[in-house]
Amino acid sequence: MFTMKNKLLPLVLLLAIVLGGLYWVFGLPLVGNPEIPTTAEAIARGGYIYNAGGCAACHQVDEAEGATGGYVIEVENPFPNTFYTPNITPDEETGIGGWTGRDFLLAMKHGRSPEGGFYWPSFPYRTYKNMTDEDVLDLAAFLMVQPPISNEVPDHVLEAWQFDFLMSGWNILADTMEGEPPSVSDDPQIQRGAYLARALGHCGECHTPRNELGMMSLAQEFSGSEISTAQINPEGLSSWTAFDFVGLLQLGMTASFDFVGGEMADVVEHTSQLSEADQEAYAAFFKRE
Ligand code: HEC
Ligand code: HEC
Repeated sequence: MFTMKNKLLPLVLLLAIVLGGLYWVFGLPLVGNPEIPTTAEAIARGGYIYNAGGCAACHQVDEAEGATGGYVIEVENPFPNTFYTPNITPDEETGIGGWTGRDFLLAMKHGRSPEGGFYWPSFPYRTYKNMTDEDVLDLAAFLMVQPPISNEVPDHVLEAWQFDFLMSGWNILADTMEGEPPSVSDDPQIQRGAYLARALGHCGECHTPRNELGMMSLAQEFSGSEISTAQINPEGLSSWTAFDFVGLLQLGMTASFDFVGGEMADVVEHTSQLSEADQEAYAAFFKRE
């Protein structure tokens, strides 16, 4: 006996699988909507995280009064693109005025915009995803009390077929293809250094090699990339002392008394402002046995 119900069942199942799959790929991750804290303490911590995350290097162009964006990022690989960093002052029209705790968690840790769109990884959200929620919310607390500044930023220049929703698949692939970075001891100082390097200072974005799809190969963390061939893993830094490393973070001077230039000089602008304890934690992590 063959009833209508029996015929429909496989169709309904198929539909459920397709819709479930679409939801899995495009649905916004469930992150809750915690309040952005407003205490002076949270704002001060957030200011420290803004520096430790090197946000100014991309969002606050030279001489700018605030994080008004407009910094140009030219990328050759995997495709020739020009990105303009957005205005992240709390301006309602041109910035991130009105953002909620949820919006920040989605952007910083999932690469998703409040409207459900996908950010391009020229925004290092695949590093910032390792931040604790508390740090993201304190960062938000700091950003939301900055003066709103109106600055309209140009649209990115992309290939005609580059739709942001393609990043949905890319992110899912990257979750497995990036692999795992080497594990480190649970010494609190080394753990703090690992957090600074892997969640905030985004050292790997420039120093870790990438595969053909532009994803970091975390198993080869810090072994050199197209941006800098310098090997800054424990092996490559064998001739450096922890003291040399702290000197790099403070002054931009290498173990062979050269001064780093270019993009690394921008990095030193933020690492030089970290607490000594954090600079030493960086050194402990990079110079670990
Ligand atoms: C290497 C450059 C770079 C760094 C460093 C960087 N960003 Fe960005 N950020 C970008 C780019 C590029 C975009 C736009 C991405 C897109 O449109 O797909 C972006 C987007 C954003 C957005 C979304 C804004 C909007 O209007 O949708 C926020 C919020 C943000 N960044 C905050 C931060 C914070 C906070 C930090 C520091 C922890 C930071 N960014 C560090 C490049 C950077
Ligand atoms: C935006 C890209 C970028 C980021 C982010 C970045 N670096 Fe660099 N780094 C470079 C470049 C480019 C050089 C080469 C600079 C030169 O030779 O003048 C460099 C050089 C270095 C060197 C010197 C290597 C040598 O032997 O000469 C060290 C050490 C280093 N970086 C550590 C770090 C650490 C630690 C972080 C994270 C806090 C970091 N870098 C983040 C781009 C970056």
